[in-house]
Amino acid sequence: MKAVVCTKYGPPEVLQLREVAKPSPKRNEVCIKIHATAVTASDVYIRGSQLPLRFWLPMRLFLGFARPRKSVIGMVLAGEVESVGNDVKRFKAGDQVYGVTGFGLGAYAQYTCMKETDSMYGCLSLKPENISCEEATAAAYGGLLALQRIEESPIECGQRILVYGASGTSGTMAVQLAKYYGAEVTAVCGTRNLEFVQSLGADRVIDYTRDDTAHLADRYDMMFDMAGKAKSSKVKERCKQSLRPAGRYISIDDGKLELNSARLARIKALIEAGAVRPVVDAIYPLERIVEAHAYVETGRKRGGVAVSVPHSDSPPDFT
Ligand SMILES: NC(=O)c1ccc[n+]([C@@H]2O[C@H](COP(=O)([O-])OP(=O)(O)OC[C@H]3O[C@@H](n4cnc5c(N)ncnc54)[C@H](OP(=O)(O)O)[C@@H]3O)[C@@H](O)[C@H]2O)c1
Repeated sequence: MKAVVCTKYGPPEVLQLREVAKPSPKRNEVCIKIHATAVTASDVYIRGSQLPLRFWLPMRLFLGFARPRKSVIGMVLAGEVESVGNDVKRFKAGDQVYGVTGFGLGAYAQYTCMKETDSMYGCLSLKPENISCEEATAAAYGGLLALQRIEESPIECGQRILVYGASGTSGTMAVQLAKYYGAEVTAVCGTRNLEFVQSLGADRVIDYTRDDTAHLADRYDMMFDMAGKAKSSKVKERCKQSLRPAGRYISIDDGKLELNSARLARIKALIEAGAVRPVVDAIYPLERIVEAHAYVETGRKRGGVAVSVPHSDSPPDFT
């Protein structure tokens, strides 16, 4: 099968399209024919290994010292169950699925095998029926990140909510989810994304690249920081100061992403009910994944970046 191999840690060019052996499922695994994967912030961290010092050694020990031990990286997928092991109960061949492979990696390929149960090596659910596989990759990653934080700090109807980093994969989902739960939403993003974020339902938009705090409401009940602690601005500090005394600041970096298939199923239901819609900025074919990584590394993507995985017998295009 075709797969993208990470030959060592480094710039996007370390990714190479190769022929590798197709995996077969163990008794408790499903084999997924992947139709789409994604280039997420997490994939870029893993490939580039540009991690804060305190994470560098533990991550290298865990993932592999000179290069990822699992050479086929990729953390998000959507596709079809091709076959299942004898002990698998939740899925059958032909099911349309989406999920996150977590430290199991392996999504930059035509096929991968995953356990049907949740673990740090992945979570899997039936895919929302009304969206494409490419959109489903943004729903899996951005949806899990956003819904986890919101379920940990539930939004009450009528609350004033700030979403900082509103234009990314998780931010676009957070804005829509906060509106769905009945909040009055102020969203913070860069200049070129103001109109776009408003179109997602935000009541107010603020540009963090300018001192644009005139649109801050009086006092906020919660601030969801979907950009992460490393991405800051003067506006971010002003936003934190505009929380009510009992208001809460919640960062996407507070605690690990939970790989939770029940939550994936809830995201599927929300999408099918029309409450939220994942945003895909661009779709690259698998053979252009180097470009996709370079684009995501600019830090300027809007929503998610998806990668479509071909299944024709045509020879791989290495250009
Ligand atoms: N806790 C965990 O286990 C865990 C797991 C996975 C990911 N994460 C974190 O989740 C974060 C979000 O991932 P994501 O994919 O949703 O986001 P993302 O798509 O990487 O976010 C990109 C957005 O960040 C915005 N941005 C860049 N600099 C900014 C700044 N200084 N202030 C505000 N916004 C800024 C950009 O918007 P503009 O162009 O509008 O500026 C861009 O649209 C990542 O940083 C990652 O570290 C955490």
